[in-house]
Amino acid sequence: MPTDFHYLIGNSKELNNIYAQNSFEQPQLIITSPPYFDLLNYNDHKKQIGYGQESYDLYLNDVCQVLNHCYDLSKNDATLWVVVDTFKKKGVVNLLPFDIVNKLKEREANSWILKDIIIWDKGKNLPWNTNGNFKNEHEYILFFAKSDKFKFKIDTIREIADLKKWWIKYPERYNPNGKPPSNIWSFNTPIRGWGNGKQNHLCPFPFPLVERILSLCTEEGDWVLDPFAGSGSVLAMSSLMNRPSVGIDINRSYKQKFIKEVNDGALTYWSKRIKELSEIETLNKKFRETNKRLRKLKVASAICDHLSSINKNPFIYYVKDSSPVKNEIEINVLQNGHIPNIHIENAELNSLINQSKIKPSIKIKLDDQFILSIAKTKSYKYKSSKFYNYSSSCKMDKVTTNGDKYDYWYSDIPLKISNEKL
Ligand SMILES: C[S@@+](CC[C@H](N)C(=O)[O-])C[C@H]1O[C@@H](n2cnc3c(N)ncnc32)[C@H](O)[C@@H]1O
Repeated sequence: MPTDFHYLIGNSKELNNIYAQNSFEQPQLIITSPPYFDLLNYNDHKKQIGYGQESYDLYLNDVCQVLNHCYDLSKNDATLWVVVDTFKKKGVVNLLPFDIVNKLKEREANSWILKDIIIWDKGKNLPWNTNGNFKNEHEYILFFAKSDKFKFKIDTIREIADLKKWWIKYPERYNPNGKPPSNIWSFNTPIRGWGNGKQNHLCPFPFPLVERILSLCTEEGDWVLDPFAGSGSVLAMSSLMNRPSVGIDINRSYKQKFIKEVNDGALTYWSKRIKELSEIETLNKKFRETNKRLRKLKVASAICDHLSSINKNPFIYYVKDSSPVKNEIEINVLQNGHIPNIHIENAELNSLINQSKIKPSIKIKLDDQFILSIAKTKSYKYKSSKFYNYSSSCKMDKVTTNGDKYDYWYSDIPLKISNEKL
């Protein structure tokens, strides 16, 4: 059941009064895009910010006044995301995004803190250019936080698609939840025009862009605000993702179109996306598990190598995944008449263990104990240089009587990664 949204017609310069007159909770997140000075005329509205204003300075003051109201109203761990672009006047670039950043700083202690600047790669734009212009295919997204403690759940938007093949050899360097997205975001701008998920507004946000920010900076139940709501994409997505929201726009007609059209478009997008998210979660889970197994096997392999290098007598090493949920492994060493030296005083190995966050314990066992403790489990045979790929499965009682056993170490950790990926 989608959560309520409140699309109000009003002037965002009076945001404080609007909040005082309504019982909205403090916003956890503000996503917005102000008018870009006088580039676009929004329905000839007399009180619109930007178009028809006497000067750029007055316009900039107004935009920052709204963003400062957002600061005053929001929670202490709130974030603000402003989609805004540079524009050209008489062939000269105007640095609007950076003017906004500098203007906001004038408030000193009570000002938004700029955390990052994202390049939004829009994938497409008008197909022509003029002399001295390239086809403009990106905009800026300014990401601000109210304090140093802000909500930022990076794990919710990590990605495992397009991982370089190195994740297999160097599992300790890869977060089990995937890699964080870069600060270049590719989302196509919605096709203009109403119906079938299209949005008839001059500059609508794509739903996936709004979804990413909502996932990153809010939880269900957190309030969201867009003081320049336009087509209402922020409200529509917030509602579907169970975040109550407030949107304000000076133009009544956008609200009417929002109620009729944008909500439907968002619903179509979200119904498809929910299925996609569940598939992504299955893949992510598989990646998390594989990454953990790889870490365990790599640490085991390095320890077996190290023990072999400091002991003259050959031993058999058997690695048990003592607790698949915990990051622990047990390395059993077959004593066979000789007491091996099991001290790990190797900086490189210790650093691998620390980086992998795997806790190994090493146990020395006599022949009988060794066979007893591991014979019943399904075992796999690994070469140290190929910890990410086992050579075959094997029975442990056979291993202990096998002649060439010392080239290998053994484990009960199965792993299905094909060599083709390496
Ligand atoms: C860049 S558009 C926002 C587009 C929006 N992000 C979307 O997804 O459709 C800027 C919006 O600000 C609105 N606007 C201009 N001046 C305003 C003001 N004083 N108060 C509230 N809204 C205003 C315009 O009507 C326009 O819809």
